[in-house]
Amino acid sequence: MGEVAKLILEGKTYELPVVVGSEGEKAIDISALRAKTGYITLDPGFANTGSCQSAITFMDGEKGILRHRGIPVQELAAKSSFVETAFLLINGRLPRREELKRFSQLLNEHSLVHEDLHSFYRLFPRESHPMLILASMVTALRAFYPRLVGLSQSEEINITVTRLLSKLRTMAAMSYKLSLGHRVIYPRPDLSYCANFLNMMFDNPVRPYQLDDELVKALDVFWILHADHEQNCSTAAVRVVGSARVNLYAAVSAGIAALWGPLHGGANQQVIEMLEQIQAGGGEVRPFIARAKDKNDEFRLMGFGHRVYRTYDPRAQIMQDMCHRVLDKLQRQDPLLDIAKRLEEEALKDSYFQDHNLYPNVDFYSGILLRALGIPNNMFTVMFAIGRLPGWIAQWKESAQDPEWRISRPRQVYVGQTETRYVPMEARDGKEGEAAEPQQRPSEPYSAVLPRP
Ligand code: ACO
Repeated sequence: MGEVAKLILEGKTYELPVVVGSEGEKAIDISALRAKTGYITLDPGFANTGSCQSAITFMDGEKGILRHRGIPVQELAAKSSFVETAFLLINGRLPRREELKRFSQLLNEHSLVHEDLHSFYRLFPRESHPMLILASMVTALRAFYPRLVGLSQSEEINITVTRLLSKLRTMAAMSYKLSLGHRVIYPRPDLSYCANFLNMMFDNPVRPYQLDDELVKALDVFWILHADHEQNCSTAAVRVVGSARVNLYAAVSAGIAALWGPLHGGANQQVIEMLEQIQAGGGEVRPFIARAKDKNDEFRLMGFGHRVYRTYDPRAQIMQDMCHRVLDKLQRQDPLLDIAKRLEEEALKDSYFQDHNLYPNVDFYSGILLRALGIPNNMFTVMFAIGRLPGWIAQWKESAQDPEWRISRPRQVYVGQTETRYVPMEARDGKEGEAAEPQQRPSEPYSAVLPRP
């Protein structure tokens, strides 16, 4: 028997197996805990809970390491393409030349979306957030692309995966064009995945878009850097929703909804809004640092901090380098980049940020890169979603192939009212028309717990 953890409860000792990952990470297997002891564990936010064993992505938050299928993210950003990285994540290995060619071909073949989807878009109010539209439209895809008959399960999964990867990109560009009231630009078979996206976003019948290899490469790197990040909030959502055996479109839609949140992927839009606010106030960064440290202020430095990283997010460094490369290429300056660098410098000197291990995360510089590529602020989180899609798919596929795949169903420690009697309405109104004592403290209105805009 391997290493065990000993747990003493009410004078009785229980032995729990220790699971060791391939990088030496250790976990206590508590899957039989309740059956053996009657106890459960309590871990709000799941900071100490491993929800699965996974062979996709390795992160070491203390050392700032991120590897996909063993390959450091820096190497993928320098040498791979987003399409190749997607293949790697989903299939577990790098593709051979012919396989990559076939995969790219399939992405092209599936890149059109049903024409009826266009009319769906037109029904959303113009000011709708693109993440809202994307989450709804991805679920709607199931209606347009229902179950495929006559195929094996793995063939069906492969086609659904290809459709999602290809169509999400088309739909994102389409929603942008329609929000402007412009004609939709269709995907072109002669263009790569990333070049096609830029072309669908910015080509215009009266002003043809000039593709630039460096900008295409920058988008490739941007998407590689977002491709997977093990059990983050949106990926966990995909796995949890998928565990109910819902179709992949609906599981991905759940991931998109989770990603939209400002504490997760929505942070990239919030970073730019924060930097713009600093700029509008004259560029002074210290008041924002002071606000972020003030416990009476809900403001946080957006793009800073991470649940796992206790050091610099390796993706943030690459993202900053890409900002410089793209701005140099465009012979442009972005004052927001200078503000971001000053903000980072001041924050990293500050004992609050040092003591809390708060460093820039992937979102801190990503918006500056996207702005340089011409992507509007409200599309930033959509860009993140396209990048994260291979990760969501790989994680869903891995869970679906796990022989022990069970529905995700956490437990709780109940702290509410113990058994009580139903009070009839007359008694609740009281004889003199006074309200009876509430049974328990009413919860706070939802808006009171949301961060200030
Ligand atoms: N600014 C100021 N203080 C912060 C920040 C921040 N950005 N992030 C964390 N802290 C502080 C908290 O106030 C808390 O302080 P305390 O212990 O003195 O009360 C402590 O650091 C721990 O914070 P938690 O919220 O408990 O950390 P958690 O791991 O739950 O949250 C998160 C991580 C959500 C990323 C957080 O750091 C944050 O809100 N950052 C800003 C939003 C952001 O950039 N999100 C993108 C994350 S990357 C991604 O999802 C792609």
